[in-house]
Amino acid sequence: MRFLLFLLFVGFSSTSSSCKSDNSLLVIEDNPNEQILIVYLSRTQNTKAVAEIIHKNVGGTLVALELETPYPADYQTTVNQVAEENRTGFLPPLKTKIDNIAKYDIVFIGFPTWGMQLPPPMKSFLNQYDLSGKKVIPFNTNGGYGVGSSFQTVKELCPDSDVMEGFTTKGGSERDGVLYVMEGSKEVEVQSEIKQWLQKIGINK
Ligand SMILES: Cc1cc2nc3c(=O)[nH]c(=O)nc-3n(C[C@H](O)[C@H](O)[C@H](O)COP(=O)(O)O)c2cc1C
Repeated sequence: MRFLLFLLFVGFSSTSSSCKSDNSLLVIEDNPNEQILIVYLSRTQNTKAVAEIIHKNVGGTLVALELETPYPADYQTTVNQVAEENRTGFLPPLKTKIDNIAKYDIVFIGFPTWGMQLPPPMKSFLNQYDLSGKKVIPFNTNGGYGVGSSFQTVKELCPDSDVMEGFTTKGGSERDGVLYVMEGSKEVEVQSEIKQWLQKIGINK
């Protein structure tokens, strides 16, 4: 939704894209949605579902993080590859490119817990893009073992950002053959928890 605020123009001129003036009127396009980026990594779509609920609540630009070389379909091969990447510090190259990251004030970053850590592709993202001076808001799904060190790693990789309280919920457990769970009563529950969380951190519309 766009909010237009019309103010009487008194001796003001601006070249800012958000402030346009004719001779008598200053128009401020007060649209917070344009400043919000929601970037997420998701393999079995649980984190994607959380990202979409956040997007419904706050608007903004929703972006799926994709890799130049996707992970294998096989779960255990992926677990082994991720463990090796974490061990060596390998940052997988991203196919996704974000246009003009500077224009965003608020960046939500969503990811599953992988090996009790932040997944390597999200480490790539945080290494590649400068989020200093921005609000960074992590969100997570996991197989029942929590966020591990992932939220702490976000803080470490964004030393000059305002890293806010994150959101986490239990998602699937691919290891046990449980893939997508964000439907029915779980979806309703998560929708309500997300609304409360957004209100608590003051980001809701
Ligand atoms: C490579 C890999 C490693 C995982 N490691 C963990 C883990 O350490 N702890 C945990 O609770 N869940 C772990 N999971 C389960 C995911 O965090 C969980 O299924 C999550 O909801 C998946 O999100 P997605 O559907 O957005 O991909 C792992 C899943 C994968 C694929």
